Amino acid sequence: RRYTDKQWWDQEAFQSFFPKRKENSHKGMHGRGLVIGGNHLMPGSVMMTTKAAVRSGAGLTTMGTSKAVISMMASSCNESMYIPIQEQDGYLSDASEIDYSAYDAVAIGMGIGREKVTHQLIQNAITAVKGILLIDADGLYHTKEQLHVLPSRQTPTILTPHPGEFASLLDVSISEILQKPFSYSKEFAVKYGVYLVLKGKFTIITAPTGRQVVESGGNPGLAKGGGGDVLSGIILAMVMQDQPIFEAICNACYLHSASADNLVKEKHSVYDLTATDIIEGIPNALRTLT
Ligand code: APR
Ligand code: MG
Repeated sequence: RRYTDKQWWDQEAFQSFFPKRKENSHKGMHGRGLVIGGNHLMPGSVMMTTKAAVRSGAGLTTMGTSKAVISMMASSCNESMYIPIQEQDGYLSDASEIDYSAYDAVAIGMGIGREKVTHQLIQNAITAVKGILLIDADGLYHTKEQLHVLPSRQTPTILTPHPGEFASLLDVSISEILQKPFSYSKEFAVKYGVYLVLKGKFTIITAPTGRQVVESGGNPGLAKGGGGDVLSGIILAMVMQDQPIFEAICNACYLHSASADNLVKEKHSVYDLTATDIIEGIPNALRTLT
């Protein structure tokens, strides 16, 4: 164990925070989540996030994307609802018609691309989203100039970069991040008042207070396009359940890894495992963990 002074997230921690479902529960108690992302060239990412949220216990999940992506993807998830977002040349450009107050949590950025036309949409979300806001993937790229706005958000903000995305947010090299992942994470999370999930073989979760936890599960089968999109959907669902937010994020990382690890133990290899498999592995992981 390299990080002896840090807290490791394990099955016992997972079980002590994962909420039991009440017998008389109804969908309104399990959160209304919105996933915004995708463009004409990356329609699958936002769908994987949406499906992962549905599979991880979100009460109601809505996917916001362009009309073209909706017509490409909607038939692959019957449980989700869909909201069209204005686009320019296939890239999302304006979501100002969306009533963000209707959602408990919003995940934004998966497969959204780095086009200028998308900039305003992300900037607007940072101030307009009234619930929990999760920013991932290219959403982080559009957030770089808006980091100074994050501390004034009234609700929790979660950023989920991989080391490359974190490096470009900070304008340092990836190797610099990898040499000091804990100190960079802590400084950033405290400065901007965010929950930071720095992903990798060892995922470091940092609270705005500076508290840090390491989640070390998972396997190289996750190192494939879409693995991070699935994690965002699991986090979205978990932060809307009845558990404290920091622990909910840690539990989401743990569940994501557990799904991948069980699949590699039981019916897959690290070569063939796909992001879609990880979504489909969530039921078995939940059954064995809870
Ligand atoms: N062991 C354990 N877990 C791993 C490993 C590993 N060797 N490699 C990756 N993971 C996990 C990470 O912890 C993370 O949860 O897989 C996930 C990968 O997430 P991302 O790096 O965000 O990858 P992904 O989202 O699939 O990439 C698709 O999105 O972020 C953009 O630039 C990125 O274009 C890329 C796209
Ligand atoms: Mg990613």
